[in-house]
Amino acid sequence: MVDHPAPSGALHRRVPACVAWVLAAALGWAFGLGFAFAQEGDQHALGKRIYREGLLDAGKVLTGQAVAGVELSGKDAACTTCHRRSGYGSSEGSIEVRSITGPALFGRTTGADAPINPQTAFDPSARGQAQTAARALRAVRLATLAGGRQRPVYDESTLARAIQQGIDVTGKPMNASMPRYTLEPAQMQALTAYLKTLSVQAASGVTDTEVHFATVFQPGTPLAHRQALLQVIQTYFQERNAGLRAQVRREEAGSVRLRRSYRNWILHAWDLTGPSDTWPGQLEAFNRQQAVFALVSGLGQESWRPIHDFSERFEVPCIFPQVDLPVLDEGNHFTVYLSRGMTLEAQALASFLQRENKPAPLVQVYRRDTAGASGARAFSQAWQAYTGSAPEERVIDGVPDASFWSTLARQRATLVLWLNAQDLGDTHALTAPETSLQAIYLPLSLNRGTRSGLAAHGSPLVRMIYPEELPLVRDARLELVRRWMHDAGIEPSNPSLQMNAYLAATVTAMVVSHSMDTYSADYLMERMEHMLGNALERSIYPRLSLGPGQRFASKGSYIVTVGGKEDSELMPLSDWIVP
Ligand code: HEC
Repeated sequence: MVDHPAPSGALHRRVPACVAWVLAAALGWAFGLGFAFAQEGDQHALGKRIYREGLLDAGKVLTGQAVAGVELSGKDAACTTCHRRSGYGSSEGSIEVRSITGPALFGRTTGADAPINPQTAFDPSARGQAQTAARALRAVRLATLAGGRQRPVYDESTLARAIQQGIDVTGKPMNASMPRYTLEPAQMQALTAYLKTLSVQAASGVTDTEVHFATVFQPGTPLAHRQALLQVIQTYFQERNAGLRAQVRREEAGSVRLRRSYRNWILHAWDLTGPSDTWPGQLEAFNRQQAVFALVSGLGQESWRPIHDFSERFEVPCIFPQVDLPVLDEGNHFTVYLSRGMTLEAQALASFLQRENKPAPLVQVYRRDTAGASGARAFSQAWQAYTGSAPEERVIDGVPDASFWSTLARQRATLVLWLNAQDLGDTHALTAPETSLQAIYLPLSLNRGTRSGLAAHGSPLVRMIYPEELPLVRDARLELVRRWMHDAGIEPSNPSLQMNAYLAATVTAMVVSHSMDTYSADYLMERMEHMLGNALERSIYPRLSLGPGQRFASKGSYIVTVGGKEDSELMPLSDWIVP
């Protein structure tokens, strides 16, 4: 056995007592500092809790006097309720809820996006007159965003007076819709400390000249899908960059007013590999190498959970990933999904079937451990909620042979197949003339673009859960996007995927441009909630919207008969069902 000297012991023996004492003191000091940091962390956490949840320490709730002496408490009294999570407030309705971000209240002195003082902006050392003017305009715009009007900055005591007595920094009583709060000094301090940090830093991935975005691909994504998706977003970004460059040049020539500063948008592809428990590490490594402001679209057939959790933890918005298995948690802030995916299909079907008069017994077929299994689970839950009884189930292993299907076909039943064309195999018995089946339902998400097998039999028994706009209406509406793709030289190789990629890119551009130069991830999400319902772009969906806190944009589905091989042969059996 090799005898290694113990390094710490050796050190100990050689260190004279006085040095040891100094070391100990230094260590003590460091621990003290650590303690101070911990305290500061606690204070920040308390401030954040008061701000976001209306919760004080020791299980008590925040209370405030609102209009007409009504007492608000807890979540209703929380500052987020009106000033929003970002602190930027809003100006819906007749009352402006002022911005209370750190910079808006206390002024900003540092950071890449520090507002420029209009007095000092005309610094002759700045590059050229046009640039100086542009900076001054930007300062005015930021000031507008900062609080609707110019006013002196707050300090601790004027802020406490505002929050407790409703008197603003100029000494004027504020509108009664700003509640008057009861807070103890330590709570007030904690809240102030939190407000000082609110939206202070521009989000990561943003520099003076660039904004970085990424698109995440789960392993197993077909290369053709990956390329089709990237091509759309990349082309859109390139055109946007070129357009803005031209605009900036015009503005520098002095003819047009500058509305926003110019930053080049750069898209990265984050390709995940291996099992999903290694994805969090991979995502963090990608983000360390080049931090991004947001994730735009994305593709994957497995659960989006690891990417979803990354977005929550690092506060990186994820805009419209194309997934069948989104995370359905409450309290998701940073990922906006197109829809609840397979779960939406299951719930829409249950809602449709429970309206039927005397429905035939239900039998659902799925393969264990697949996306289809989650559809079956959601369907079973929804069906039990409506009727109190669970549907019958057949779980398959491998591709079933013809006899499996002919046995099923002898049942007077309604069949729900959470399977794709490959899983189905030889299903001719299901739609043969002697079948006893009453109807057969397939989810679109597992049978998209595969108008083969069962879906192509042309039998009136076969129906599809169709959570998208009906083909004829959709084709007319998407003509403009198709022309854009054609002009950009993009082949329509996978229209739904490409339209959804285009949606993700345009909605990102819309919300970024309407959040001015704040680059606050929270504010971006708030803008998204506010604007999505009015956006022109809806991709393949009849309507998109997000209420406050909602994160699934398309909320319904049609049930259609399949007819034949062509999309145009689909016929709706239902209205747009929003379960
Ligand atoms: C029910 C809505 C509502 C809630 C909840 C609310 N505020 Fe306000 N707040 C307002 C409105 C509206 C104004 C603007 C009043 C005016 O313009 O007269 C305002 C103004 C302010 C101002 C003055 C900003 C300025 O520019 O002078 C501060 C500071 C402030 N709020 C802090 C808070 C804090 C901190 C909380 C949580 C403890 C909070 N508010 C909760 C509605 C609200």
